[in-house]
Amino acid sequence: YSLKPYNTFGVDVKARYFTEILTVEELKEAISFSNSHSLNTLFLGGGSNVLFTKDFDGLVIKLNLKGISVLPVNENEVLVTTKAGENWHEFVMFCLDKNFGGLENLSLIPGNVGTSPMQNIGAYGTEIKDVFYDCKVLNLETLEIETFDLEKCRFGYRDSIFKQEGKGKYVILEVSFRLTFRNHKIKTEYGAIQSELESSGIENPTIQDVSRAVINIRQSKLPDPKETGNAGSFFKNPTIPLAQFEALQQKFENIPGYPNGNSVKVPAGWLIEQSGWKGKQIGNVASHKLQALVIVNATGSATGKEIFDFSTEIINSVKEKFGIELEREVNII
Ligand code: EPU
Repeated sequence: YSLKPYNTFGVDVKARYFTEILTVEELKEAISFSNSHSLNTLFLGGGSNVLFTKDFDGLVIKLNLKGISVLPVNENEVLVTTKAGENWHEFVMFCLDKNFGGLENLSLIPGNVGTSPMQNIGAYGTEIKDVFYDCKVLNLETLEIETFDLEKCRFGYRDSIFKQEGKGKYVILEVSFRLTFRNHKIKTEYGAIQSELESSGIENPTIQDVSRAVINIRQSKLPDPKETGNAGSFFKNPTIPLAQFEALQQKFENIPGYPNGNSVKVPAGWLIEQSGWKGKQIGNVASHKLQALVIVNATGSATGKEIFDFSTEIINSVKEKFGIELEREVNII
């Protein structure tokens, strides 16, 4: 069963078994089938953060739970609950259409709602933890539904319990967000948003204006996975100790960094660009010409192994030049 349509890298690998589930009952049945046949199981959402490096000898379960519901909370806020299989951007557009604020900075992020808590998706000054209320998950051992609130999710930069102790133990079924329907808290601190709004002559932006600005910024530098296979940022931005950053500043005067206490987050895109990889292509794989942090399936026929090897070469170059070890953000299967 080809997984090519189910991963945004467009890598052509096969799964031994494949099923799409529409309800929690179907999901439980699929898990029971898998358990009784001792199969490896892989849960797939939008496929926008995975790299398949080989065929999958087991059952792939594609999560297609759908539905959105809205509950008023108080005179300013609503609780919006959405099933895991809803497309993230369509969900954000649904909210903006209803004038629900909080997710506008996260417009146009690929993938489904169900995977958004996994890595606490974030962009342009917002992370989902800022508006997250809770999520319902299926415990794969007990097949019981559990609720994870904000604290229990232990969100960090591109991180949550679902990537740590909880890894492989739960399937996210639905996510609830606390959004505003008046007195929106607009976030325009991110430089690129400011300049985008200024160039459109917008002084008092609405949440819809912020969304449009974010969409313009993303479209101007990130490749559309429908045209060129990719999984967004391939690496995390590394965090290094302040002392190491200061030592690097002696050698590389222009090194950008965002200090946070005793550590500094350095944009991986800059490190990769300075190591000579921006826009560089080897065989079917390239670093995107407008954003070095994104690896693309340049010809459409790259294998997962080629993409993985390309990423290893980037890691080695950056390590050699800066002594910083980049960490992959994309799930390698
Ligand atoms: N930069 C370069 N060269 C490049 C790319 C970036 O020098 O080729 C430097 C520039 O100094 C720039 C800085 O990196 O000022 C930051 O770049 P950008 O604003 O594009 O953000 P980023 O840190 O590269 C992160 C997220 C993106 C998110 C943007 C905007 C990570 C791993 N990535 O990228 O997330 O859209 O911020 O908030 O944190 C994604 O996860 O798929 C993704 C695109």
